[in-house]
Amino acid sequence: MTALLKATGISKKYHPASNTPELALCSLTLEKGRTYVIKGRSGSGKTTLLNLLGGMDKPSTGSVYYNGKSFYDLSDREQSAIRNKNFGFVFQSFNLIPELTAYENIELPRFFNRNCIITSSAISTVAEEMKIGSLLHRRTYELSGGEQQRVAIARALITSPDMIFADEPTGNLDSAASRMVADLLVKTVKSRQATLVLVTHEDNLIYSEHIQLNIRDGHVGAMEVCNGSLGI
Ligand SMILES: Nc1ncnc2c1ncn2[C@@H]1O[C@H](COP(=O)(O)OP(=O)(O)OP(=O)(O)O)[C@@H](O)[C@H]1O
Ligand SMILES: [Mg+2]
Repeated sequence: MTALLKATGISKKYHPASNTPELALCSLTLEKGRTYVIKGRSGSGKTTLLNLLGGMDKPSTGSVYYNGKSFYDLSDREQSAIRNKNFGFVFQSFNLIPELTAYENIELPRFFNRNCIITSSAISTVAEEMKIGSLLHRRTYELSGGEQQRVAIARALITSPDMIFADEPTGNLDSAASRMVADLLVKTVKSRQATLVLVTHEDNLIYSEHIQLNIRDGHVGAMEVCNGSLGI
């Protein structure tokens, strides 16, 4: 397996005067094509860790290497280019523009990156993968929560990123929609051979094999291989 993202000695302290960091020192290696699940209680530091790994927030100590390059030492332009092209983000609150259609929402990354070419056939392909092919011309405020989240995932996948970061992507869905969205997300990311880092506080959200990282009060535990079909 190839190491795609590596964090060495990262930590985060939002308040310099405080004694305890929000994220204690940790080092991690994320391999290509794997699914990682970050689990922990509210306030334990899950989003903090995801943001450091996803190039959204600079750690107070340590470095994050993407494809062997120290991400936060790159220029702002290089960092944005990676965030736009190589990383995809999915959030609990979907972050869609309600007045735009599903199609227009999926197309949005091209307005943030001049070099990004998004063809209508690529949109059709990702829409089929997300089972929203028949919804593309609907405005997203008309869609159910599960449908909106599948549009948001399609938008995250449209640039063919090799890392997908998802922060409680099923947190606003009921359990049936949660399962469908989580299954589709995991299957699609796997078939595209991308790496998924997913934050959740739900037990047994992911049924297929994944690697779990538990966080407690900012302390990241050792990686555990979980075979979801056994309910571990
Ligand atoms: N931008 C920030 N500035 C200051 N403190 C922050 C900031 N972001 C998070 N924190 C603090 O860091 C700690 C961890 O927050 P974080 O959002 O990572 O938790 P979480 O595990 O994602 O929680 P939840 O499940 O509720 O989303 C909390 O004590 C929070 O108040
Ligand atoms: Mg959070």
